[in-house]
Amino acid sequence: MADITETSEWAALSEHQGELATRNLRELFADDPARAERMTVTAGDLFLDYSKHRATGETIARLVALAEKAGLRDRIDAMFSGARINVSENRAVLHTALRLPASAELVVDGQDVVAEVHAVLERMGEFSDRVRSGEWTGFTGRRITTVVNIGIGGSDLGPAMAYEALRDYADAGIDARFVSNVDPADITGTLAGLDPETTLFIVASKTFGTLETLTNARVARRWLVERLGDEKAVSRHFVAVSTNAERVADFGIDTDNMFGFWDWVGGRYSMDSAIGLSLMVVVGPARFREMLDGFHAVDEHFRTTPFERNMPVLMALLGVWYTDFFGAQTRAVLPYSQRLARFPAYLQQLTMESNGKSVRADGAPVVAQTGEIFWGEPGTNGQHAFYQLLHQGTRLVPADFIGFAEPFEDASAGDGTPGMHDLLVANLLAQTSALAFGKTAEEIASEGTPADVVPHKVMPGNRPTNTILVPKLTPSTLGQLIALYEHIVFVEGTVWGIDSFDQWGVELGKVMANQLTPALTAEEPSGDTPDASTAALVRRYRELRGR
Ligand code: F6P
Repeated sequence: MADITETSEWAALSEHQGELATRNLRELFADDPARAERMTVTAGDLFLDYSKHRATGETIARLVALAEKAGLRDRIDAMFSGARINVSENRAVLHTALRLPASAELVVDGQDVVAEVHAVLERMGEFSDRVRSGEWTGFTGRRITTVVNIGIGGSDLGPAMAYEALRDYADAGIDARFVSNVDPADITGTLAGLDPETTLFIVASKTFGTLETLTNARVARRWLVERLGDEKAVSRHFVAVSTNAERVADFGIDTDNMFGFWDWVGGRYSMDSAIGLSLMVVVGPARFREMLDGFHAVDEHFRTTPFERNMPVLMALLGVWYTDFFGAQTRAVLPYSQRLARFPAYLQQLTMESNGKSVRADGAPVVAQTGEIFWGEPGTNGQHAFYQLLHQGTRLVPADFIGFAEPFEDASAGDGTPGMHDLLVANLLAQTSALAFGKTAEEIASEGTPADVVPHKVMPGNRPTNTILVPKLTPSTLGQLIALYEHIVFVEGTVWGIDSFDQWGVELGKVMANQLTPALTAEEPSGDTPDASTAALVRRYRELRGR
């Protein structure tokens, strides 16, 4: 595998960066006001304005040339056709098959994966309908009013984020809670106030071997059985989502009440598989399918649109541009939607577990910087917290602003002041404009600002942003947004030459935690600790716990 940083396309971008580094967005817009209209693209219902980037048409052409050099076209075809592109685990990467329509066909290793996907969707739909209608009851015959999803990482963040995003669509009187952390505060806080007779637990774990999930599930089972006084209650109150039927059975959940998926679905790409069962129960199978159709619309856009007009490709390449040519460390994701409060956290796993790699797919060290650090909070809250650094700090923080034209439900004070949603959107637009164009010392001085204060008020501008404008937050547009970022990760990973679908870096800590637990809990202190610092901390912990 060639090192991408050794290519002439990379060198051309380096040189081009030198030219653009001295130019600012005020100049770029003055030279070419039409860029505001031209540097836009649509994918499904998503509209992207990428004009406020430190980039010109030439930049885009050079970035596209880099993507072509990295073999992006072939990689896209390979992923969609089920090739084993997750090389270190020798697996296909087929989350896009989870949202293919039933009429499609995709045969991988002799199996029509579309038929399998839709068979599981059917079972999920039947189960969800039974719970929603009250036909499926708890052990004492009462209908289910709360589902508790027990999972972590990809088996938690996706459904938890989507539940928050789509809770306006919950129409069956069922709410959801999510437990993930092995911190006892999580499960005890979640169970507090719940009625065991009306609670359904969904234990979601791809491997069904994850310490946090199995521990939380055992605690929940004990809580249920103690309160309902009968082991037999478990089968009415626990269902599982997993790829591992044997472990599900070992845990004591009837595999008739298990919903499967496949090793070709990575954990962080699984919220549209059976891992989304809690969401489906809450919003119903029809809404869930609308979400899948949304994913599919952006999959098709990604698969078929020329790179110059391909939204995930453009956003990914601009990510590479800032990461590798401007030295940016992070990317802020700023949804102007309270409902998307968990979206940045969801994206953190999706992007950082995927692209936080320092070897290439062939095992050689990477030379480029990889893995953007994603972070963010909903606007407008973030404006009153960390935006100061975005506007006037010394670091370059490219940011994605996500806004919606229509709210699910607007509100106003009723005194002639604008509706709340218009205020929200006005803030989004104000921020991207201020970040791009800033305010000069002359402009500030001309307002009568004392000379000694002027430098403090200068807004440097030239801070790049994407603005993604969406008609409304719906199941479909949520699916579209998620698919957009999934494909951004893929394109960046392709340019960097890494395997975006394994996550070996999380394994060592898991093994060591298992080894360390006895050192914390054993009656007698043992010398079984990996290093001097950890040994000292273990001693301190034991002392504090009186052990
Ligand atoms: O530890 C990382 C990880 O393996 C994630 O990739 C995954 O989403 C999460 O743990 C949970 O895994 P599982 O669904 O197998 O419980």
